[in-house]
Amino acid sequence: MAVNTSNPSDLRQLVADGYNVLAQPYLDWSKGPDGGGNGGNDTPLERHFDQFLSLLSSKRDETQEMQVLEIGCGAGIPWTSRVSKALAGNLTATDISHSQIELAKTHLLQCDPPHSNVTLLLRDAMELQFDPNQLDAVYAIFSLIHLPQQDQKTILKRIATWLKPDGLMFMNFSGQLESSDDAEVWLDGKTKMYWSSLGLLSYDQALEEVGLSVITRDVATVVEDGREIPFVFYIVRKR
Ligand SMILES: C[S@@+](CC[C@H](N)C(=O)[O-])C[C@H]1O[C@@H](n2cnc3c(N)ncnc32)[C@H](O)[C@@H]1O
Repeated sequence: MAVNTSNPSDLRQLVADGYNVLAQPYLDWSKGPDGGGNGGNDTPLERHFDQFLSLLSSKRDETQEMQVLEIGCGAGIPWTSRVSKALAGNLTATDISHSQIELAKTHLLQCDPPHSNVTLLLRDAMELQFDPNQLDAVYAIFSLIHLPQQDQKTILKRIATWLKPDGLMFMNFSGQLESSDDAEVWLDGKTKMYWSSLGLLSYDQALEEVGLSVITRDVATVVEDGREIPFVFYIVRKR
């Protein structure tokens, strides 16, 4: 479906409004076979996430607590919870949707024991502010795909600034060759969602331009609602 606005903040608001309705349906869908088995065993995402966690653990510094940022934490499970448990440091987990942040509160802060190293923040990724060289790592799982194209480039530039030298980032984007900009009704048959992509071959260049060197890059197919959808998974390091 064609997108009928070119205003990036309208598009991000469409996504926030969508997840405010779809937070729980998304969680249910993403755990099952129709949603690519998000968090299941031996998926491409699971393998890349494990590699990211092991690189993160190897950066452990006894003298300093690590500072990690998650963009688009959703319901806080499984990824936020898993990073929180593995991390010797503090995790700031952010999301644009208040319904997602409420679910994340239940899963991370109102559980026993609570994840005491997690701070949840209701915030649009494009409104985040950190100091240069403040963060040890950033990760964004199936979330940057919801940013308009120009915002995707802008956020990569900002993240590169926020990361310390040698800081890590893990993320995924659409693996389709063509650039795209789509809004369609999703999951419940009535709520609209928006996704965009720079086109597969543009991401290497976008990362290179902002000083993020590729450690791993993998185009893998995820089966969603019976359709094979390619995503590109990156782990990168700030030069
Ligand atoms: C597909 S869900 C993935 C959630 C979680 N990362 C996971 O994999 O289970 C995408 C999440 O990104 C969030 N998101 C989308 N656009 C965002 C933005 N501009 N700023 C912050 N979060 C955003 C959505 O609200 C949603 O929770």
